Amino acid sequence: MRDCLRQTCFGGARQVDSELFCAGDQLHGKRDVDRGSARHAHILMRMGVRVNGYAIAVFRRVGGLGPAAGIWQRIFMDALCIRGTGKPLKGKVRISGAKNAALPILCATLLSDGESLLRNVPKLRDMETTSALLRFLGRDVDFAAPEIRVRAGSQVRPEAPYELVKQMRASVLVLGPLVARFGRAKVSLPGGCAIGARPIDQHLKGLEAMGASIRLERGYVIAEGPGGGRLRGAEFSFDLPTVTGTENLMMAAALAKGRTTLVNCAREPEVEELGRILNKMGARVNGAGTDVMHIVGAEPGALGPFDHAIIPDRIEAGTYMVAASIVDGSDVLLEGAELRDLEALSIKMRAAGVEISSEGQNVRVRRRGPLCATNLATAPHPGFPTDMQAQFLALMSMANGESIIRETIFENRFMHVPELQRMGASVVVRGNTAVVQGVRKLYGASVMATDLRASASLVIAGLAADEETEIRRVYHLDRGYERIEDKLRALGGDVKRVRGAEA
Ligand code: EPU
Repeated sequence: MRDCLRQTCFGGARQVDSELFCAGDQLHGKRDVDRGSARHAHILMRMGVRVNGYAIAVFRRVGGLGPAAGIWQRIFMDALCIRGTGKPLKGKVRISGAKNAALPILCATLLSDGESLLRNVPKLRDMETTSALLRFLGRDVDFAAPEIRVRAGSQVRPEAPYELVKQMRASVLVLGPLVARFGRAKVSLPGGCAIGARPIDQHLKGLEAMGASIRLERGYVIAEGPGGGRLRGAEFSFDLPTVTGTENLMMAAALAKGRTTLVNCAREPEVEELGRILNKMGARVNGAGTDVMHIVGAEPGALGPFDHAIIPDRIEAGTYMVAASIVDGSDVLLEGAELRDLEALSIKMRAAGVEISSEGQNVRVRRRGPLCATNLATAPHPGFPTDMQAQFLALMSMANGESIIRETIFENRFMHVPELQRMGASVVVRGNTAVVQGVRKLYGASVMATDLRASASLVIAGLAADEETEIRRVYHLDRGYERIEDKLRALGGDVKRVRGAEA
């Protein structure tokens, strides 16, 4: 698609080390553009050209053009405009499949050959990135949401390049399966991200305990099985529960020789779901979803493909629970949501005065009356999820009284606060604690999305704010919320996407 765009649209553009940046598939990421390309891209955006459903965006050029360098600092990305009408949300919304369950499961396809089929996959940018990564590694991938099919290709390249890993940290999930299956892996270190440093030391220590030799070279982790061969089962205790760390070691242990015991594991439903998949493939995983897991590795070649529909996204469901509570009088049915996975959030929402009930396969959320201030501290599952902290903070910004919100998982996860303050929220952050003084009104403003869940909190605030809120850089939101504007509109929200707005 990119080549085609280039040939048809940029044939005459001055080409130095420049490239048009198209969001979607492997094309998402920062690229420099020269002046000619940028002008053409701008025209294309005005014409409404889209690649894989995403708008074209243009980033600044850095160096190489002499005096012209730096001219193209304007960035064009989609924005969301939300008009707070004060009207309650009403109706039904279907919850999509869980992004954070799909990511490790797709990486688990590396453990076997044959054709695996994953159903109920959300149409999200992270799914496109994972598909691109698996293709790079040598798999054949067909992604036609809500299904992804993955088949072994003719060649394997056990290497995850920086270009792909930097777009999505979860790419590090190929490390465990690659080294377990092929005896060697070279995977770019993901580095930090907006919400924190996010080291992967536990992933590496666990693999070392299984006999892997690990070296870090020029930003890459190079892992090799003992003598370039098969990992061996081991006992390993995580220093702290890590979701992707647990998942990486589960996949490594599924093909290691002998039995592995993992202690202090993450207990998130997505970890449990991966355990189900590995067992479907023929591994013997016991205890997934608890803090101690026993895994008996399968013999080489013994793991098979799978056909599986993934669990609903509990964080998407939680986000709609909060969205449905920000305006009094709302009554929303979350179709397919699993209340069992949302207990900590439900408890806090009930404490805040929101009615939450299970209705068959659905969850009903009703707000009838004022919101009460509620304190919370994030914690690993089954504690209050860090991925719901920003949204809950937005809710508390309109509650009666003072709420104290403590973030214990990531060191920099209050970036939504300055944006919410621009909308009139009264929040003071001291270290890992935010003190939120509820206000009667929020006001629409231009705000900036900084990460996925921070963006969701701004959408929620926008639904309750007076007048219009413009949320820029919603590509963050597109990583984790499928068709959010359509779903909110169906509930009566006045939300629209502006393609190619200036960021
Ligand atoms: N940590 C270490 N060393 C490690 C691994 C983690 O010190 O080797 C620390 C982290 O720095 C953090 C804590 O352990 O302080 C927990 O991090 P964890 O490894 O559990 O996070 P993750 O696996 O990188 C997943 C989700 C995140 C979610 C966190 C916490 C996926 C793909 N990502 O990340 O989801 O916030 O668990 O629940 O599953 C999101 O969806 O918006 C998102 C960020």
